[in-house]
Amino acid sequence: MTSYSIETTSLQKMYGSKLAVEDLTLQVPHGEIFGFLGPNGAGKSTSVKMLLGLVQATRGSARVLAHPPGAADAARRIGFLPEHFRFHEWLQAHELLDLHGRLYGMSAAARRRRVPEVLELVGLAEHARRQLSGFSKGMLQRIGLAQALINEPELVFLDEPTSALDPFGRMLVRNIIRDLKARGTTVFLNSHLLGEVEATCDRVAFIKTGRVIQTMRLDEGHTQITVEFRAAGVSADLLAALENMTGHAVRQAAPVPPGVNGSYPQHYELQLTDEALLPQIAQQALQCGAQLYALTPRRMSLEERFLEIVGKEDSGQ
Ligand SMILES: Nc1ncnc2c1ncn2[C@@H]1O[C@H](COP(=O)(O)OP(=O)(O)O)[C@@H](O)[C@H]1O
Ligand SMILES: [Mg+2]
Repeated sequence: MTSYSIETTSLQKMYGSKLAVEDLTLQVPHGEIFGFLGPNGAGKSTSVKMLLGLVQATRGSARVLAHPPGAADAARRIGFLPEHFRFHEWLQAHELLDLHGRLYGMSAAARRRRVPEVLELVGLAEHARRQLSGFSKGMLQRIGLAQALINEPELVFLDEPTSALDPFGRMLVRNIIRDLKARGTTVFLNSHLLGEVEATCDRVAFIKTGRVIQTMRLDEGHTQITVEFRAAGVSADLLAALENMTGHAVRQAAPVPPGVNGSYPQHYELQLTDEALLPQIAQQALQCGAQLYALTPRRMSLEERFLEIVGKEDSGQ
């Protein structure tokens, strides 16, 4: 058995002469919470539809749960929350979920057990017998999420799952994703909401026209930390030692005002991947005779990364 839930090679999608996805190559291991990031129109939804077999790729190949996209054997083990979830508004919440359970081939007994469970999970238990026509946008997104999980999927695609949700709803989705992770479910999360992704994903891919520009791990020990370092009496030896320790160039964050002497604290930025270096940096500064005013770690937000990566790509073209 392959260790990937999703593998693609050079997937491409043209809508007529319009290029939506240029060249998508990626692997998502089993059990990973994978964030698929990109600005509007980057080809995220189209990519997901190709992986589900809802849209035919123009070129390239893909395996999803070791099957070609759309294969019935895999479809039973996959959940999908579409970006624009369409539903039968005359149905009550529990009826919609029961219907989707039936579409997945679940037995009546399994549906009777699972429908109340997913309603509870998305916080709609008391609305089970309400008609969907009376649901708010946020409630519809929740029912869509319940629908995506009805069959206890091994792999779930969530396309912008929080776009209509308030902060409570977002927190709920975050908790559901964590819970899925604990069960070993693979989650493919499309989002342009970077804060969401940052809080839940193990790894992200930044995409543009369906091409992966960069992938990045977000789980422990892989995040880059920017450290504000302010000290007086910083010698060239100290700077060299810091660059050696961190493996990155030390950047002077603010120019030294004219006319100040060596006792004026200067501001630098260091880049680290391991917090454990912080005490060593403090010690090194002391050893080199500097007076330390600040040593403040700051994780680079995904938003900053995103702007940096996508911005660089833009200016390079
Ligand atoms: N059915 C379609 N017909 C023609 N163009 C489409 C269709 N669906 C999407 N596109 C175009 O393909 C590009 C990628 O769209 P989409 O996959 O929805 O991006 P995202 O989900 O990242 O916002 C966009 O330029 C969009 O206008
Ligand atoms: Mg989309």
